Amino acid sequence: MAQISIKRPIQYLLSLMIALASAQSPQCPNNLAVYNPNLRTACVNGTFFIVPVDTATVESAVAPYGLVPLPTSDETLFPNGFPAGTYPVLVSIYLDNDIRMTALQIPTPLLSASIQVPYVDRLGDGETGFLFSVKQYIGGYDGDDVSGYVPALVSSLGGTTIFVASFVPDDGPYEEISTSPPEYIAQVKDVIVPNPVSGPGVIEEAIDTDFFTVSTSSYTAHLFHEVISQPLILTSGLCQRNPIYFNQTFTDPIFRNGTVTLYSPGGAFAGVYDDVQGYSASGEMVGYNAESCASAAANTDPNALA
Ligand SMILES: *[C@@H]1O[C@H](CO)[C@@H](O)[C@H](O)[C@H]1NC(C)=O
Ligand SMILES: *[C@@H]1O[C@H](CO)[C@@H](O)[C@H](O)[C@H]1NC(C)=O
Ligand SMILES: *[C@@H]1O[C@H](CO)[C@@H](O)[C@H](O)[C@H]1NC(C)=O
Repeated sequence: MAQISIKRPIQYLLSLMIALASAQSPQCPNNLAVYNPNLRTACVNGTFFIVPVDTATVESAVAPYGLVPLPTSDETLFPNGFPAGTYPVLVSIYLDNDIRMTALQIPTPLLSASIQVPYVDRLGDGETGFLFSVKQYIGGYDGDDVSGYVPALVSSLGGTTIFVASFVPDDGPYEEISTSPPEYIAQVKDVIVPNPVSGPGVIEEAIDTDFFTVSTSSYTAHLFHEVISQPLILTSGLCQRNPIYFNQTFTDPIFRNGTVTLYSPGGAFAGVYDDVQGYSASGEMVGYNAESCASAAANTDPNALA
């Protein structure tokens, strides 16, 4: 399968950034860039779903790593435990706004989505959880073509494969499709996989979500924060911290439930998952540089997981 994986495109990134004029920033300010001028920062607004998937299927997807035992008896994370025989998969769809990478700023927001497995035993210690990326997508805000940003983002993510896709909606992290009760959708579709022979190819749907607001959840906000901010396992052998701080005045956390559909570009996890619990919120993301997995774990800020 053709994949985008480009290393060290710094000159390209520089010329691209300088060439592009600045655009509007519709929402969600980046409040941390000023304190982290050498890191990648953004304001993230989106919805994060915990999808229970058959444990054996999850195990084979994260091989050669294992899974750490889920802390299901910790009521501050899982007040109702977790369905037996399944393991959580984190499905995220969000708007990255006001993205800064070192002194440069990406002049438009981006849409991002990912399918990741949390609590992966990267260190083999049976207890420290890492995020394993199964699929990652980016798309342009309001019809913008973002293929040009892929090299820069891929580079900052240490070789992680990113697919370019279109999002519905493409001007926000989700949209209301009905008012009583309020019902929302967010979708990732038309995944474009560059093909060196024939040019861009298109795969249809990748992720559909359809959800409602609920007042209580099977999981706490702390559980969502903990899985979202676990260090990411990179293909380079290193790991990377990308904590999101959901403690802003505009964080506005909302529990959701609904249906998450993963299509075949989602690989092993394809299926329709009903009654899935989610969490919509906005927070400040700080993307650190790659480091050893042991130091990524040791340096993880417990405040981001709280
Ligand atoms: C996050 O996105 C939702 C949906 O578009 C919007 O209603 C909300 O105002 C946004 N929050 C922030 C802080 O931008
Ligand atoms: C959010 O948490 C971080 C880390 O603890 C802290 O540095 C920051 O001041 C907090 N921000 C707000 C607005 O409380
Ligand atoms: C939301 O949760 C309730 C209670 O668990 C469930 O009965 C309902 O079917 C869920 N709704 C959706 C759309 O999944």
